[in-house]
Amino acid sequence: MDFDEAVDRAPPGWRYFTTDDVARLPDAVRDHEMARVPAGETEERILRGLFWTLVYHLAPDRWDELARHEPIASELIDVLPRGAELALDVGAGSGRLTAHLVRRSTRVIAVEPSAPLRALLTARLPSVQVLSAWAEALPLADGSSQLTAACGAFGPEPNVLDELRRVTAAGGVIALISPEHPEWFEQHGWRRIVAPAPPPPEHPQWLDEFFGPLDPPHELVMTRVD
Ligand SMILES: C[S@@+](CC[C@H](N)C(=O)[O-])C[C@H]1O[C@@H](n2cnc3c(N)ncnc32)[C@H](O)[C@@H]1O
Repeated sequence: MDFDEAVDRAPPGWRYFTTDDVARLPDAVRDHEMARVPAGETEERILRGLFWTLVYHLAPDRWDELARHEPIASELIDVLPRGAELALDVGAGSGRLTAHLVRRSTRVIAVEPSAPLRALLTARLPSVQVLSAWAEALPLADGSSQLTAACGAFGPEPNVLDELRRVTAAGGVIALISPEHPEWFEQHGWRRIVAPAPPPPEHPQWLDEFFGPLDPPHELVMTRVD
């Protein structure tokens, strides 16, 4: 998502954060995120544009509670290949998709830049190898994974897609659940699957007040790597 889109689509909870919070982000994270902020932006637009980053790094329990109440539609999990020797979850968060990959793959590596989310994931899924890295520079050899997956993390960003392709073995699958701009993937030959939107389970009201209406992931795009 580009910066203007992130500003426009920031949930109401952006007001919970201040510029002091931006300063509290780990240096590498702040540098990575501020690189996409155009010069001269106002304080409000920066907080809106960095909302999700601030949540992942400074309010991880809020993200985790949201993810728990937005389960991935089972129809999407059902179409993911089974039996990958290595499955990769990029931008794994606290492990919502990773947990499914563990049940259908021999080995799973999760890549996640947020230290508190990595800690939640490790506590829940101790068999998963968890790496601190960005999707733009995955610390993995070419062709290492048979299933490279992500949920809610990426859209058609060329540098990220190049990396996902690079680390996926020939014959392997890249699967993106709830990608930004799914129509772009469809136009570029990816298979697109839209499951019926499941109603969110019962949840505390603060989730709506902070994040806006809940929208459990129910769309997937996937492609096979040559
Ligand atoms: C919407 S959350 C989804 C988390 C998890 N996949 C899930 O479905 O619960 C997006 C995740 O991607 C991570 N992320 C954001 N930008 C990233 C990047 N450039 N490379 C790797 N991970 C990234 C965030 O830290 C966050 O955990």
